[in-house]
Amino acid sequence: MKDYTGVVKDVAVMLNRAQSKNRRLFASHIMETFGKKAINPSSIEFECYSKLRTLLHFWAWGIPIPKTVYVPCDPVDTTRDGREIHNEPDIADLLQDEIALEEGIVVKPDAGTHGKGIVLAKNREELIANIQTAKPSITNPVGVLAQELVQKWFYDLRIIVYKEKGKNPVCHPSALARGGFKDFRTNTYLGNLVFDATLPLHVKELAVKCGRALSKDHEAYVFALDAMINVGKNKTLDDQSLKQELENAAVAFEPVKKVKKDETKLRDFPKWNNQLEAAFKDYQNSEPYIKIKSIIEDSIEKNKSNVVFHEANSCPEFWEHTRLTAGINVAIPLLKGAQSLL
Ligand SMILES: Nc1ncnc2c1ncn2[C@@H]1O[C@H](COP(=O)(O)OP(=O)(O)OP(=O)(O)O)[C@@H](O)[C@H]1O
Ligand SMILES: [Mg+2]
Repeated sequence: MKDYTGVVKDVAVMLNRAQSKNRRLFASHIMETFGKKAINPSSIEFECYSKLRTLLHFWAWGIPIPKTVYVPCDPVDTTRDGREIHNEPDIADLLQDEIALEEGIVVKPDAGTHGKGIVLAKNREELIANIQTAKPSITNPVGVLAQELVQKWFYDLRIIVYKEKGKNPVCHPSALARGGFKDFRTNTYLGNLVFDATLPLHVKELAVKCGRALSKDHEAYVFALDAMINVGKNKTLDDQSLKQELENAAVAFEPVKKVKKDETKLRDFPKWNNQLEAAFKDYQNSEPYIKIKSIIEDSIEKNKSNVVFHEANSCPEFWEHTRLTAGINVAIPLLKGAQSLL
């Protein structure tokens, strides 16, 4: 056992990089109780922990969100004598009262990551089956959270917003656009490609508003917001040609993958990192990358008034994609934010 009393005594600000939402909430809260500042503070961790809480704040601030319904009861209740009461049909009715099933209803865990447990239904049978998957757990103690399927074409956006004490919140001008046709979920985790996309002013202003909505009067923070553009039928290219372009981009990405697998990473990190950066640059200069990036930017610009924000991540990754694709090293605003609190 190590005694960290001395270390903690001299700490003024803690950078909270614990990987699970629960641990971050716990860590910030404990440090705040010791009189330390945390970035992000526990109240921000608390809001970001839950998609519903985040959405409620956005909604209260007039920020556009996907139509969302939360039913605060479980799909199955068990009585004391062991009988099961099935609420799925009633829950499905409540969801269908607000969201058109033909357009698609997305059921998702209130607390979750990597797109896990996020399921889409387009008919009653699927909806009932999906509601059944929403089992109560420690992280999702009760209820079913559902959303309209945003008609977002092939990509969604991750947008970085940060603030230092004494300064206005800032939205990083380039978002990460995660794209592919593998699934309606476009997370990078599911093997989708990532492009950088310059954001229109309107979207940046809304992102800053999201920061204000979640942070209350906290003086320093860093978030990554998830947003989607409801492109609907306003597509500038047919999906077949786009799939071909994405396949070409995947081929152009192969050299990056090769560097990522290279074991020099463990022996000579700076050399490996230079190789990674060079491979990424080549990828970003490749024809398919440039083409898809311009399709995405054009569709964001044309449909910017149809943007919806649906989640805030309080511990954005700051390694490969955000740094090399969006061109921001999140460690910098994090450190500057911490410094501003000293
Ligand atoms: N209402 C929706 N309409 C359309 N697509 C959706 C909707 N909700 C989620 N998605 C898709 O599913 C993906 C994952 O959703 P979401 O960000 O809510 O989950 P997550 O588990 O928090 O993922 P991550 O950890 O990557 O943020 C999104 O990137 C998006 O592509
Ligand atoms: Mg997300």
